[in-house]
This record gives sequence, structure tokens and C-alpha cells, in this order.
Amino acid sequence: MPEVRVCATTDVADGATRRVDVAGLRICVVHIGDDWYAIGDRCSHDDFSLADGAVWPDECEIECPKHGSMFSLATGVPATLPATQPVPVHRIRVEGDDVLVTVDGGDA
Ligand code: FES
Repeated sequence: MPEVRVCATTDVADGATRRVDVAGLRICVVHIGDDWYAIGDRCSHDDFSLADGAVWPDECEIECPKHGSMFSLATGVPATLPATQPVPVHRIRVEGDDVLVTVDGGDA
């Protein structure tokens, strides 16, 4: 799948998230300082939206707002229970004012 512009850099404040849809996949875009992450928006535990969760910049993790599992933004692997399965992560980069995501497939 080609790279898709999902939003402008100004759409996501530092430390914030934004839920976007790419080809029908729900993706949570996260902005931490100069770094950007694109993680599957569906918690692997119970299909809750991770974009509604808290971002932990120092840990580079996002917390599921429903039961509190922490997911690595870099790998999608849960650091804490109750989730045990990873969520997908996608390539993301910034070009000018545009935030661009590439989805390689699989469920988001
Ligand atoms: S729905 Fe995310 S930890 Fe339960």
C-alpha cells in the first residue's frame, strides 16, 4: 500500500494522539517531541480505542483507557496485563507539514 497522508503535523499536539483511518484500518497516530508513531488503534485485549488513552512519553508507551494495559509505541508489544498480544505498528514519517503513514497489511 502506498504512503498515505493522514493529517498535518499541527493536528496532533506534542504528547497527544489522533485516530485516523487508512484503507479501513483504525490507526492511532502519536506525537512525542520530534518522534511520531503509528500504532493499531484497537487494543488487542478488548477492541478499545488506544487513541483515547494516555501517552507516556518517557516510557514511549500508550495506556489503554479501558483496563490499563501499556503498549510500546515502537513495537506494539504490551508491557502490562491484561493484554497479552501485540498490536500492529506502521511506518510513519513527516514531510514538511504532512504526516505520512504506510500500512503493510494485517489488522490494525
Ligand atoms: S481493552 Fe485494553 S486492556 Fe482491556
